[in-house]
Amino acid sequence: MEKLEKIYVWLAVGILLAFIVALIYASVILAVRVPTDVGQIVPNPGEALASATMRTPPFDQPGVQEVAPGKYKVVVLGQAWMFNPPSIELPLGADVTFYGTSLDIDHGFFIPNTDVNMMLLPGQVSILRHKFDKAGVYRIICHEYCGTLHHLMTGTITVK
Ligand code: CUA
Repeated sequence: MEKLEKIYVWLAVGILLAFIVALIYASVILAVRVPTDVGQIVPNPGEALASATMRTPPFDQPGVQEVAPGKYKVVVLGQAWMFNPPSIELPLGADVTFYGTSLDIDHGFFIPNTDVNMMLLPGQVSILRHKFDKAGVYRIICHEYCGTLHHLMTGTITVK
């Protein structure tokens, strides 16, 4: 093999190893979790997606629900340019499973300083679990550009 060929082969192997290390680092050390797509909302013929969403459980009842001691289900709808519910209250230590979707276009659901980061997509259900171990007021931010008032699309979670 030419010297240059060897260099390129080892370079390719090195890059591949670097990607594998980065993948392991992200999944094991940083514990990055990808929100799962766990279902779709299917409108009836002629029905608008927004009305299909609003009648499909659990999205027919946005808000907080205690499902077991210390365990909560938080159902969130995104729409231009607000979250429903806009403010959420949870007790300290709440183990929350978020269920999210969008009534219109793609939105984001991001809580800074936590690993809560998911997309709210029309017709798709997103689920993400998080335990709130620190009291305080958390901001919910839409981090997917969604039009003119995107920057105003925020909400709050108060943990106490
Ligand atoms: Cu909703 Cu940006």
